[in-house]
Amino acid sequence: MVNKITVVGAGNVGATTAQRVAEKELASTVVMVDVVEGIPQGKGLDQWESAPIEGFDSRIVGTNGYDETAESDIVIITAGIARKPGMSRDDLLNTNAGIVKQVAEQIKKSSPNAILIIVSNPLDVMCYVAKQVSGFPRERVLGMAGVLDTARYRSFLAEALDVSVRDIQAMVLGGHGDTMVPLISYTSVSGIPITQLIARDTLDSIITRTRGGGGEIVKHLKTGSAYYAPSAGAVQMAEAIAFDQHRILPCAAWLTGEYGMKDLFLGVPCKLGRRGLERIIEVELTADERAALQKSADAVREPMKAVKL
Ligand code: NAI
Ligand code: 2OP
Repeated sequence: MVNKITVVGAGNVGATTAQRVAEKELASTVVMVDVVEGIPQGKGLDQWESAPIEGFDSRIVGTNGYDETAESDIVIITAGIARKPGMSRDDLLNTNAGIVKQVAEQIKKSSPNAILIIVSNPLDVMCYVAKQVSGFPRERVLGMAGVLDTARYRSFLAEALDVSVRDIQAMVLGGHGDTMVPLISYTSVSGIPITQLIARDTLDSIITRTRGGGGEIVKHLKTGSAYYAPSAGAVQMAEAIAFDQHRILPCAAWLTGEYGMKDLFLGVPCKLGRRGLERIIEVELTADERAALQKSADAVREPMKAVKL
């Protein structure tokens, strides 16, 4: 357990994240910040009132300012607007860049030693904004997308094979967009290569569905985007950090030459512990996977160039 975890944004992803963080008792205090007056206070109080039923002692506090967030160990940034039908993640670019910039400036002052987990979209570019504005080292700025994209891929595979989700090992790398890269060569069911268990055309359609997984939820919801699986993804990363688990999870990390690329955030296998990013693992890729990762990096660089800091 760490002392304090702050969740910025008390909307769908933020509030669900705060509740999960408290239920797992990752921190003594969970602070939820939002610009809308009353929302973080009301939701925070409601969540705290669930503590006696759920049996957690993490104290949840909602606020519109940053005083209560001082000296947070981990800050999860979910502030921003979400996608509506017909919108791509990149449509959110400059609005969310302004929001993430303002949040990062505040966190830099109030919690200079925090580890940031970014969730706001477009994810890889918002990680870049947070890193540039905070000036934090790459070990302390990570993005959540790979855990979610991999969870979607695993859930679809488990359904198709009629096996437990627990037995599906997989990794989705690259940017959080249509160019994400599910790695077939690292997909297995209890160690059995996936290609021995499923027809190639079924696997291809699962990969296509994974790439469009966020859009599929937006189409159903109509007024916003996914939040149960995204909040679970952010909390899995926070848990790995808070409990120094040394877990290897696909996260957006700042590359400094890994996979032959540098100066951008991209989803890669990361070892996470109490210091944040402990190591990026470079796995062998097939020529097709390497080309797909390069294409995904190109798709991230484009909005990165367009973003106003
Ligand atoms: P939401 O609209 O429910 O909540 C966003 C919250 O941010 C609102 O309560 C709003 O008042 C608040 N906010 C706006 N400006 C703020 C500021 N300056 N400081 C503090 N709070 C501020 O949206 P939702 O569904 O929670 O999504 C949040 C973000 O997460 C979106 O950008 C969405 O696209 C992204 N997202 C990313 C995922 C990923 O895999 N990386 C998955 C799901 C969502
Ligand atoms: C998702 O993948 C919208 O990025 C969000 O659900």
